[in-house]
Amino acid sequence: MLSQQTIDIIKSTVPVLEQHGVTITKTFYSNMLNKHPELLNYFNRANQARGRQQTALANTVLAAAKYIDNLQAIIPPVMQIAHKHRGLGILPEHYPIVGENLLAAIKEVLGDAATDDIINAWAEAYGVIADVFISIEEDLYKEAEQNGGWRLFKSFKVAKKVEENDLVSSFYLVPEDGVKLPEYKAGQYITVRVKVPGDEYTSNRHYTLSQPSNKNEFRITVKREDAVNPIGVVSNYLHEQVKEGDSIQVSAPAGLFTLEENNNPILFVSGGIGVTPLNTMLQTMDLGRQVAFVQCVRDKKAVAFREQIEKKVNDLNGSYRVLFSDENGYVTKEDLTPFVKEYTEVYICGPAPFMETVISIARELGISGENIHFEFFGPAMSLEAQ
Ligand code: HEM
Repeated sequence: MLSQQTIDIIKSTVPVLEQHGVTITKTFYSNMLNKHPELLNYFNRANQARGRQQTALANTVLAAAKYIDNLQAIIPPVMQIAHKHRGLGILPEHYPIVGENLLAAIKEVLGDAATDDIINAWAEAYGVIADVFISIEEDLYKEAEQNGGWRLFKSFKVAKKVEENDLVSSFYLVPEDGVKLPEYKAGQYITVRVKVPGDEYTSNRHYTLSQPSNKNEFRITVKREDAVNPIGVVSNYLHEQVKEGDSIQVSAPAGLFTLEENNNPILFVSGGIGVTPLNTMLQTMDLGRQVAFVQCVRDKKAVAFREQIEKKVNDLNGSYRVLFSDENGYVTKEDLTPFVKEYTEVYICGPAPFMETVISIARELGISGENIHFEFFGPAMSLEAQ
């Protein structure tokens, strides 16, 4: 239990953190990774370079400070992060390293303003927050181990590699120990750990499972990211160097972006490679369920899974539209209006700006917050946005 005095100090530091949050976390990361280069085996260096991870952590620290006397309120977003941590193999012994370096960074950036009282209060509060993460993550590790699952990473063979289009390939992964795979829900992801030649450290990436659960193989579908800066090190490695028969390390399925258990009509709206979880969800739907699928892509070359989606939507007597942003611009309210009925639940996945557009259209169309479900690729930017 934190004392009232500690709670008061934490709450009164929120404005300071808001001002310096990103600088603090940048300092924290560079100090921590200099002192503990072994942690480079966990952190996504492309996200570091783009400053994404700094923003995610800064926002999380702020949210924690705001809710320090009511941590129950942040359990749902903590669950999302904990799923990612579990997939990455983050362990209790990592938490003190983060804590120590976070406090040192607060001291370094705030200088004299960081009094002993403030630092001590933050040390205490960090301990409480870390314990919440550690205990939720331990439960997730235990859950992952059940029903043929495993705790950290396991070796899989690339049984088949199939080009879906010029930019997108699917990888069929079979466990090398031959043990039947645990069941997963459509929309969940696995974390892939690879060692790219020439790189001293391992790299981890989360990829949605792109076909419904089966006992024998996982399938992931990966877009080559060579037109961005920095380029997608892992996606390019998978596309260019990983061959059928090669071995890669894989975590047990994780993630909370899955279909709600009800019978409401569904509207799927995907942007680019965000089609992967939504197509998997679609493929698991029972006949009789109402569905519409709006697939947004840049151009004809970028469409993936078109035939599969078309077939399943036809089986369900639903509607399917493909929108090309190069020809018609971004998706609009008019594009989605015909597919929104009373109680429609919308599932959205794609790049962050696309998601923001579609979420605001869904709100304008009167869909209530609890019926708007989304997940974007890359780290969550804010706890409160979820
Ligand atoms: C990801 C918060 C502790 C390693 C994240 C994300 C957040 C976060 C918000 C982004 C999640 C997303 O992608 O949606 C926190 C908080 C912590 C904590 C509040 C402490 C209370 C740790 C520790 C480690 C760690 C102890 C291990 C050293 C990572 C890694 C990622 C991540 C490797 C993925 C980021 C990337 O590679 O881009 N964490 N974290 N975290 N966290 Fe933590």
